[in-house]
Amino acid sequence: MHQLTLWGIAPLFAAVGYAAGLDVPSLQVPSCPGKGTIQYSKSVPDQAEFPLTQVDLCYDASAIEIVFTALEETNFYYNESQGINDPIWQYEVMEAFIHPGTNDPQTYLEFEVSPNNVTFQAFIYNPSRVRASGSPFDTFYITEPLVDGLTAETVLDRDNQKWTSTARIPLGLFNVDEGQAQGTEWRMNFFRTIVDPATFPDQGLGAWSPTNQSNFHMTPFFGSVSFV
Ligand SMILES: *[C@@H]1O[C@H](CO)[C@@H](O)[C@H](O)[C@H]1NC(C)=O
Ligand SMILES: *[C@@H]1O[C@H](CO)[C@@H](O)[C@H](O)[C@H]1NC(C)=O
Ligand SMILES: *[C@@H]1O[C@H](CO)[C@@H](O)[C@H](O)[C@H]1NC(C)=O
Repeated sequence: MHQLTLWGIAPLFAAVGYAAGLDVPSLQVPSCPGKGTIQYSKSVPDQAEFPLTQVDLCYDASAIEIVFTALEETNFYYNESQGINDPIWQYEVMEAFIHPGTNDPQTYLEFEVSPNNVTFQAFIYNPSRVRASGSPFDTFYITEPLVDGLTAETVLDRDNQKWTSTARIPLGLFNVDEGQAQGTEWRMNFFRTIVDPATFPDQGLGAWSPTNQSNFHMTPFFGSVSFV
């Protein structure tokens, strides 16, 4: 164990090797039209009640398909001035962090979608793996998502307090060649933010694999995902 963890100040120094100690959830994902499904309904980091959130995943020859479903939604809060790659995460979004491989990544895709169908997509360089203060934390934007085939289709169902977004994320972004996804192993986490005009900018945060801080960028917590 890293000696610094004994002093209770690990978030400042955590760098490598924490994966061994963390028990993360796992998911098996079949090819489409099959699906692997996860749900979560606890906030991070305090594990309080959180609106039920579901994510369905499958893969085909060229993309990962992710259906994000936000249930028990009362706000549908977004900023209509924001466009692609703007900080939509300040409002309400659903998110996937994705890494091809089994290690705790330093670099991973961050994908987000808002209730008005605006997407944020960037690779994140987070060599501390926990967004430690004083460590690099860089963002490499994907500037032409539609040209790349990275898309979302979003449907609001206000009567049923629900919004759904179906995203396609090209496998080529991760160097998985056409038709080669079966058998690949991934690390991923899924998140949702909750906020309304009265509480802005203080958000409720929810995660599939709960992080231990109000911080999604903690890769030792990424769950294990197998494409079967
Ligand atoms: C949170 O988890 C990280 C990664 O495992 C660990 O280094 C850190 O000590 C934990 N922090 C708290 C406050 O529990
Ligand atoms: C919405 O976003 C725009 C552009 O970033 C900003 O100027 C404005 O203050 C935001 N509006 C609200 C209500 O937060
Ligand atoms: C949402 O954005 C996508 C591109 O990401 C577009 O194809 C789609 O028509 C948009 N509209 C809705 C309602 O999903």
